[in-house]
Amino acid sequence: MSTFKQEAIYQQAKKWVKEAGALIRQAIDQPREIDTKADANDLVTEMDKKIEQFFAEHIRHTYPTDRILSEEGFGDEVNDLTGTVWIIDPIDGTMNFVHQKRTFSISLAVYHNGIGEIGFVYDVMADILYHAKKGAGAYKNEKKLSPIADHKNLSESILMLNTFWCTSNNKVNDKKIRKLVQTVRGTRTYGSAALEFAYLAEGIVDSYISFKLHPWDLAAGVILFNEVGGKTVQANGKPLTFLNQDPMVSAHPDIIDEIINDYIELK
Ligand code: IPD
Ligand code: CA
Ligand code: CA
Repeated sequence: MSTFKQEAIYQQAKKWVKEAGALIRQAIDQPREIDTKADANDLVTEMDKKIEQFFAEHIRHTYPTDRILSEEGFGDEVNDLTGTVWIIDPIDGTMNFVHQKRTFSISLAVYHNGIGEIGFVYDVMADILYHAKKGAGAYKNEKKLSPIADHKNLSESILMLNTFWCTSNNKVNDKKIRKLVQTVRGTRTYGSAALEFAYLAEGIVDSYISFKLHPWDLAAGVILFNEVGGKTVQANGKPLTFLNQDPMVSAHPDIIDEIINDYIELK
């Protein structure tokens, strides 16, 4: 029998996510210390670090044997998902946080022996918390999200993507992506992967492709989308690892195979 205390951990994590969001909101108009990481457009601020530290300290104090997989260096070196692993992006959409002061999120997931048990995606400025427990449905604040539509055609769907496929090391056949963009009804880019998964779960968009997401960008969002019947896999059709930067496709089950087979060709 599993010793994982899903409800108790969910309640505790929810409190921390809300508290962390309040810390960000209170300081939204303060001057920012902005650094860059992998490249000039990969931003990190003092707030990203402060929020990750906030979670790491609370988790280590309350759950000392759990491990933390997170973006800004306050977590552990995690190479497998045995036991309980917290997967955290303290601010997902730092570019939006810096430039727009909105449409960024806190993404926090709890995995137990590789299974996504609890997921939170918190739209901090809008005070909208998307949350899910495995097997208990997904919610937007207090409202339970409906299962996704019975049927979906690619030509009547909205695809989310960013432009990284044409700017960063060209991992995919861009002619095929172009064809996909011409096939769908429309495209959207929101700038926070975690929120993009939440929008999939809400049913306001139908698919999402991205080729370099880290585990902390998607770990919580995937749980939300699973709970309403969505599917997320690597771009080669295999299951996600939640450890690597897997090129991935997330979509309504009616259109995911078509996207993978007809439009995604990894180089
Ligand atoms: C980024 C955002 C963005 C996605 C990038 C991520 P960050 O996360 O989720 O929407 O396109 O791939 O790196 O750096 O703001 O946490
Ligand atoms: Ca992120
Ligand atoms: Ca981040």
